[in-house]
Amino acid sequence: MVARKNSAKNCAGADPLALGFYSTTEVIDPIPLEIEGGIPSWITGALYRGAQATWDVNNFTSEHWFDGFSRQYRFEIENGKVSYRSRNESDEVQDFVRETGFWPGGSFGNDLCKAIFGAFEANFRDASGNKGDNNTNSVSVGYVKNFPGLARNTTNFGPLVSLVVTIDGGNALQQIDPVTLEPIELFIYDGPGFSNPGSAFTSAHPGIGANDEVYNYILDLESKPPIYQIFAIEANGQGRILANITDAPPAYIHSISSTENYARQSLTSSNRGTPDRPTFFYVIDKKKGGIFAKYTAPAFFAFHEINSIRKVGPENPNIGIDLPARFRRFRLQNFLNAHEGDDLVAKIELEIPYDIGNIELPRINDNYHHKPYRYTYGVHVVKRGFFVDSIIKIDIETQTTKLWVPETNHLPSEPVFVPRPGCDDEDDGVLLTLAMDSATSRSNLVVIDAKTMTELGRAKMPIAMGYGFHGVWGRV
Ligand SMILES: [Fe+2]
Repeated sequence: MVARKNSAKNCAGADPLALGFYSTTEVIDPIPLEIEGGIPSWITGALYRGAQATWDVNNFTSEHWFDGFSRQYRFEIENGKVSYRSRNESDEVQDFVRETGFWPGGSFGNDLCKAIFGAFEANFRDASGNKGDNNTNSVSVGYVKNFPGLARNTTNFGPLVSLVVTIDGGNALQQIDPVTLEPIELFIYDGPGFSNPGSAFTSAHPGIGANDEVYNYILDLESKPPIYQIFAIEANGQGRILANITDAPPAYIHSISSTENYARQSLTSSNRGTPDRPTFFYVIDKKKGGIFAKYTAPAFFAFHEINSIRKVGPENPNIGIDLPARFRRFRLQNFLNAHEGDDLVAKIELEIPYDIGNIELPRINDNYHHKPYRYTYGVHVVKRGFFVDSIIKIDIETQTTKLWVPETNHLPSEPVFVPRPGCDDEDDGVLLTLAMDSATSRSNLVVIDAKTMTELGRAKMPIAMGYGFHGVWGRV
C-alpha cells in the first residue's frame, strides 16, 4: 500500500481502507467529540488505540503499511461523553528519516531481506530504569496492561496502568504514560539466562498469567539449530527461561497462549509457502519449566488466539485452543501422560465454515480468559473484496452468529469488549470499535450492544484515523 500525499476526500461509496493512509496531526490536549445516538452512562474509562499516523517526511514516503510513524490515541469516556487525545511515539525516527531519507536499518517497503531482518537491527538498552531511548522506534501493534516490573505511578493521576506496545514480530517494547501518552522508554525482554541480542524475533502477543505474568519466546536464529527460548517475566519483573525448543524450524509466530498452568506455543511454517510442513504445538510447564508434549497438525497459519482452556479431569487432561480466521478449536489430548517421541496429533474438535463465521482480531469478555466461555467478537467480511466491513459475534455453543453491519461502508477495527459493572451474563456489555466511514471520510468510535449487536451511539472524530490493529480498555 502506497501512502498518498493528498488529503482524504471523495471516498464515499468506496472501501474506506485507503482513508487511513493520509497523514493527520496529533492532538496533545483532549478535545470533546460530537456524539450521535447515546453512549451508556455506566461506561467509564479509557480506550487506547495505536496506529501509524504520519506517512510522509520530507522526501520520504512510506511504501508499506508498517513504515508509517506510530501514534497512540486515548479515548476517555465518562457520563455519556467522549474526548480524545493523541501523541506521536517515534519522533526521533522521524527526525532521522527527515535528515537521511532512509528508515534506520531498512523499511518494510524496500529490499526483502532488509524488510525481514533489517527492521530489527536497532540496539536497545535493557529494561532497568527509565532513562533510555524512548522514541527511536515505531512501535504500535499490541498492548500489555500492567507489564511486570515497570514503575506504575508515572504521573500524579492516581493508580495507573503501564502500557507496553509491542512491534509486530520484533523485539522492542515501549512503555507509554497512560494519561499523557508520552513515550517513557523502549526496552527489550531480559532476564537471567536470556540470550537476547535485540534482533531476535518474539511474539507481538505474549501469553498473560493470572497475576499479570508475561510468557513469550525469543527466536535465536544465529544458533544452529535455531533456538526458541520460552520465558516468563514474573509478577515481580524477574525473567526466567522455561524451556528451549531446538527441534523446530524458524517460523513466524504472532501469539503465545497460556492456560492456568501451561503455556502453549504453536509453530507453523505454512506461511513460508510450504504447506506440506506441519504445524507444531508445544505444551510447556509455566511453573517448573520444561516441555510436556509436542503435537502436530496439518499446515495452517493463524495470527491470533481467541482463548485457551484446560479441561479439568485427572484421567484425560487436555487443552482446548480456539483460533480465528476460520474458527477452529484444536484439542491437545492427554498431554500430562505424554512421553518423548510420542506421535501426538492436535485434533480439530470444532470448525465453523468461513463464509458464516470468518473472524479476525478476535476479542472476548476478558473475565473469561482461560475459562469456559461462549462468545467471541471480531472483525468480519460480508462483501467480497473488502478488507473488513462488519463486526461479528459468534455463539460458540450454538455455532450461530450475529452481525453489526453499518448502512454505509465502514472499516471497523478490533472490537474491545467492556463489561457492564455488576453484570452476570458473559455478553452483558458493549463493544468499542474505531470505524472509518467512507460516507464522511472520518473515523468514529462506535459503541455496540454486545448482546444484540445493535449500535447504541458513536463519537465522531474530526479525522480519518489510521487503521490500528489492537486496542485495550483501562480505568485510570
Ligand atoms: Fe496481532
